[in-house]
Amino acid sequence: MRLKMKLILIFMVLVGFLGEGYASVYTDQNEAVKKGWQHFKMFCANCHGKNADGKGPLVEAMKLMPSDLTALRQTGDICIAERVLRAVSGVHVLPEGQEQKMPVFSGNLESITIYEITQFLKAIQK
Ligand code: HEC
Repeated sequence: MRLKMKLILIFMVLVGFLGEGYASVYTDQNEAVKKGWQHFKMFCANCHGKNADGKGPLVEAMKLMPSDLTALRQTGDICIAERVLRAVSGVHVLPEGQEQKMPVFSGNLESITIYEITQFLKAIQK
């Protein structure tokens, strides 16, 4: 009986512990996505659109064809984080038919900002 009680106690402590662990990771992740969304609206949405679908207000004026950033998972064979990092650093390969590269950001964006934007983009993939 006492052993059973001990086992139940250990089990409860473990579940509590793990539960808390997951909860905090989840919250951090959510926080990163939220911040990424704020950065995205400030730095990227003018071209890529608020919904990241490539239909921002500058598209017409600049005759640009910004990529649909909700489809990064389906297009290309490198991971999303690398796609974003390459694009903001201006070292990515232009898609077929595309003449103008997007502006280079890497000098102006902190790594944490790029990370948060990446988390946001990962969260909205189709
Ligand atoms: C001035 C307009 C403009 C802004 C602002 C802009 N982009 Fe772009 N982006 C483009 C255009 C045009 C393309 C397609 C041509 C190219 O790939 O360079 C593109 C392509 C991309 C791609 C696809 C690259 C690939 O691998 O196919 C990613 C990822 C991307 N942008 C991320 C971002 C992020 C993140 C931001 C904000 C930090 C941003 N862009 C801001 C115009 C812009």
